[in-house]
Amino acid sequence: MGEKDHVGSMIADAADAWRARDLAVLWHPCTQMREHHVGDSRDALPLVPIERGDGAWLVGRDGRRYLDAVSSWWTNLFGHAEPRIAAAIAAQAGALEQVILAGFSHAPAVELAERLLQVAPREAGRAPLTKVFYADNGSAGVEVALKMAFHWFHNRGEHRRRKFVALENGYHGETLGALAVGDVPLYRRVYAPLLAEALFAPSPDAYLALPGESPAQCAERAADGLRRLLEANAGEVCALIVEPRVQCAGGMRMHDPVYLRRARELCDAHGVFLIADEIATGFGRTGTLFAFEQAGVQPDLMCLSKGLTGGFLPLAAVLATQSIYDGFLDASRERAFLHSHSYTGNPLACAAALACLAIFEADDILARNRAIAGRMAERAAPLASHPHVADVRQAGMIVAFELTRGGDRRTPFDPAERVGLRAYRAALSRGVVLRPLGDILYWMPPYCIDEAQLSLLADTTRAAIDEATACG
Ligand SMILES: Cc1ncc(COP(=O)(O)O)c(C=O)c1O
Repeated sequence: MGEKDHVGSMIADAADAWRARDLAVLWHPCTQMREHHVGDSRDALPLVPIERGDGAWLVGRDGRRYLDAVSSWWTNLFGHAEPRIAAAIAAQAGALEQVILAGFSHAPAVELAERLLQVAPREAGRAPLTKVFYADNGSAGVEVALKMAFHWFHNRGEHRRRKFVALENGYHGETLGALAVGDVPLYRRVYAPLLAEALFAPSPDAYLALPGESPAQCAERAADGLRRLLEANAGEVCALIVEPRVQCAGGMRMHDPVYLRRARELCDAHGVFLIADEIATGFGRTGTLFAFEQAGVQPDLMCLSKGLTGGFLPLAAVLATQSIYDGFLDASRERAFLHSHSYTGNPLACAAALACLAIFEADDILARNRAIAGRMAERAAPLASHPHVADVRQAGMIVAFELTRGGDRRTPFDPAERVGLRAYRAALSRGVVLRPLGDILYWMPPYCIDEAQLSLLADTTRAAIDEATACG
């Protein structure tokens, strides 16, 4: 063994040792832990110890580099270890790391609220979003919005309005309230007995379009279903919650913005709040700063998290209208919104978010993203004719590939074949993180992705699909 080989094998041994140390004590999220324990078997999922991040790359403890094509669960915006955000956090840490936000205030929380309200979606003729309530992760933000909607009606004595409407195939997080309005069976099914009842309206998902139906017609048809649901439950619904433009965890399923306009009209007609869950779609992911902008309408409540801090720290913000805020002002404490989390409005996280919004301006990120999205479209297009790709779809910086046996919608793979997982493993062995959603692969890269990285991503995606479907 040469000296170089010897060093290489020592590094690999160190990574193996780390894996063992991890598996001895950690229980990982969204993971069947058995898959990390079964060695080289067909079901094995490699655990990848990461040492550091560098732009769009994650660097393993063994020195291997992985292109982070899923932006570390859709949180990262400008690349890992972005120096301006890191510096803002360091500066804030030297001044004030945390303070109780009940009864106390601090500059990053106020300045961030001011900035968010400035950039929030606006609709002509509608009162703007004027208040920000902080939480510390996406699911908690969703809980806040749901509770606010319910409690607002309760404060007005409208006690019958206690139902939530959500969309089929939607996803809003893992806590019990957020899970109740989610419809992805994998996460929901086992906990169903614990969940508050929600009403589910048809998804406007364009992949479900009938033969000859355009995405807009498909969205209109779904909106008709929503209308019927609201009519059947008149006076009993307090809010509709939607992921605008893209149902992300539901498989990056995309819909025409006309659905959001129709949903807005229907919510107005039925006196129901419209909650935009922009936790995954916000901050430039779908081409505009917020996906709702593409419909030209404004929600009553908007949930933000993930990219809010550029992927550095957990934080959520719920933006609300003045009228919602005013509905809680009273001499009674019980009529106040008493929801709280210890780290609500953490100064470090707020400082990161402010730095992140400054980068959007300084680097003209939305314009740059339009150019990158165009290059992503060019790179993705050839895959549309792959014999196992039924659909290639895109919304700004998100591209998804629907894998099926016959390359059409009617012939999905048997889930037991785990084609998505096989593609994941194949991509990982080539240095790209393509974490699938079932048999759907997607690109949701950091906005700093460059031409060479895009080439690697496209080539690897094709190779991963080929390998995953070779014996299928
Ligand atoms: C649309 C949407 N809402 C809510 C959440 C939950 O956010 P968190 O994972 O921070 O709880 C997610 C997470 O993926 C999401 O995609």
